[in-house]
Amino acid sequence: MVRKYVFGTPLETGAVVSNGLKGENGFAELAGTEGKADLTEMTGLGKYFSLIPAGEGEEGLRFVHRMDREDIVYGLGENVRGINKRGWIYESCCSDNPNHREDTRALYGAHNFLMVKGKNKNFGIFVDYPGKVVFDVGYSKMQELAITVPDGNLYFYLMEGETPEELVKELRQLTGRSYIPPKWAFGYGQSRWSYMTAEEVREVARLHRENGIPLDSIYLDIDYMERYKDFTVDEERFPDFGKLVEEMKEMGIHLVPIIDAGVKVEDGYSVYEEGVEKGYFCRTQDGEFFTAGVWPGKVHFPDMLNEEANRWFGGKYKVLLDQGIDGFWNDMNEPAIFYSESHLKEVFENLADYKDKNLDLQSFFRFKGMVSDISNNEKDYESFYHVFHGEKIRHDKVHNLFGFYMTKAASQAFEELCPEKRVLMYSRSSYIGMHRYGGIWMGDNLSWWSHILLNIRMLPSLNMCGFLYTGADLGGFGADTTEDLLMRWLEFGIFTPLMRNHSALGTRQQEVYRFENQEAFRHIIELRYGLLPYIYSEYMKAALSDGMYAKPLAFAYPEDERAKRVEDQLLIGESIMVAPVYEQNATGRYVYLPEKMKMVRFRTLTDREETVLEQGDHYIEIPLEEVVLFIRPEHILPLAEKGGQSVEEVDFENLTLLDFTLEESSYEYYSDDGYGKDFENPAHRKVFRKKAK
Ligand code: GLC
Repeated sequence: MVRKYVFGTPLETGAVVSNGLKGENGFAELAGTEGKADLTEMTGLGKYFSLIPAGEGEEGLRFVHRMDREDIVYGLGENVRGINKRGWIYESCCSDNPNHREDTRALYGAHNFLMVKGKNKNFGIFVDYPGKVVFDVGYSKMQELAITVPDGNLYFYLMEGETPEELVKELRQLTGRSYIPPKWAFGYGQSRWSYMTAEEVREVARLHRENGIPLDSIYLDIDYMERYKDFTVDEERFPDFGKLVEEMKEMGIHLVPIIDAGVKVEDGYSVYEEGVEKGYFCRTQDGEFFTAGVWPGKVHFPDMLNEEANRWFGGKYKVLLDQGIDGFWNDMNEPAIFYSESHLKEVFENLADYKDKNLDLQSFFRFKGMVSDISNNEKDYESFYHVFHGEKIRHDKVHNLFGFYMTKAASQAFEELCPEKRVLMYSRSSYIGMHRYGGIWMGDNLSWWSHILLNIRMLPSLNMCGFLYTGADLGGFGADTTEDLLMRWLEFGIFTPLMRNHSALGTRQQEVYRFENQEAFRHIIELRYGLLPYIYSEYMKAALSDGMYAKPLAFAYPEDERAKRVEDQLLIGESIMVAPVYEQNATGRYVYLPEKMKMVRFRTLTDREETVLEQGDHYIEIPLEEVVLFIRPEHILPLAEKGGQSVEEVDFENLTLLDFTLEESSYEYYSDDGYGKDFENPAHRKVFRKKAK
């Protein structure tokens, strides 16, 4: 049951699909509250929340829920900390923030969905409000959940259900089906900021193939473009681009270029000139085009929220589609702002005051802050405007929608330009509902061991919010990686739908062939390809049933008090549990088994050992080069015996069925060609059964 509460006059963000999807049947719409809700009229909500004005004389609203000690709070998608979000304060304010630290409040996405699971209660909420929202989950007061929305205009959805999975389904029925990428996008991808020339790209491809390391994609970061101009290719460094794309395809490798949000200000650059002529860029209060600085220097932001401008921007992807490209990643779309022209001017003017000054404690920090506060400054969000649903609106009021609409632009264009085909698309910034148009990656993590754990925890939280196609920058983006870190991270990454090794400019290069123990890397990646029939099948079933691909143990074992608190083991699909190693020099780890399971130890895809383990705690040796997973009782894990160098080569038909059958087990296997869109065709499903001997 979903109830929709209308406070004031909310903006239609586009998060909710209002075309008669199943979820709408359950709506009880409760409106007319004029900002300050009359709780007595609002059946249901008062049971969970008290509502107070958000501050003296402010328009804002605060929804307060008193938590019981044992309540667990799930959700909030892309954020730091645990699967249980209690004990911190999170802000939904899409931010270009490479510092994924414990005290970080906002990352790239705004995922305003959370669930409270307690002894006798189970409810979820989705706050459909496109500006900043604060989720204080026991930070100010340990037992209090307080959600603050700065003005009184929002939709508040309340979901009730027996289990968290039901609530997740309710959200999905409200916001639409998760994006389904092409099958090749489940293969291994190699990325780096940046491969600078076509030759370098060829070398990356060649070295993977020569060393027998499976690979399906190579990513092109900003340097493939001509001076960072969207929808251009640098002809000197990437001559005859279409031919390169073709040549790579012949090797079974897809090139995936990045697209940035800002359009370079440069005379003669057609995207810029057209945007100016048609008035498609965001403007300042005075009607000038807003100018910010990003990679190319000065840029204008296309008004992604304006329908016409949005279609226009989407249409530009054609330039690359026409050259054989079939996948993209959208970046810097919070939008990231290194500086705004106006703020920069101000800083230069003010700096002069400090020139001959004796900088003391206060003045030094003010001086330093002036420069360091210049990037992604929230003040800049107040200095430009969109035309949204025909009305002029200041950016900060709709800030969290920019990445959503950029990705929608691309997705709509793909539907029109190549309706038969699945195109890979994922974005950095996102809002609830964007999961219909693409996936997301987990942003600029660091080559830190603690970030493996962070990304393990982020995975189910993102799934709860609809983002099934996701994964981390394996090996870590910023900072220098090490061979063992990359290996352990890949051992987790083989289970994430998006499996990409990506690193930042200036850091140690981390293509797997650069390290000594190539054989181990090869085996780990080969195992991914062996697991693909299962991974793909589970992904498709989750997407098509509005379910989750990766879950916390608590969702499957709700009565098990121990399982509820486990945050470093996950259920991947219906058959298996994983327990990745995320500590350096560890040669194993403790694993909690909520029930009797069969452990499978993979030395390689074909060299494996099976052991049945009883319910309870176990210390499991996991040498650096090995992967272990656990099959649940009465479940089957289909495995391709023959992997391949690319997804195209994997045999999805002749499978080995690993199983843990006590009496009888079964598995519904989903398999299609991976490129078409007849997802619902029953011919894609079959059932495997096994009986105990
Ligand atoms: C941003 C992206 C990162 C990319 C870099 C250069 O930091 O998050 O993935 O490599 O920009 O384009």
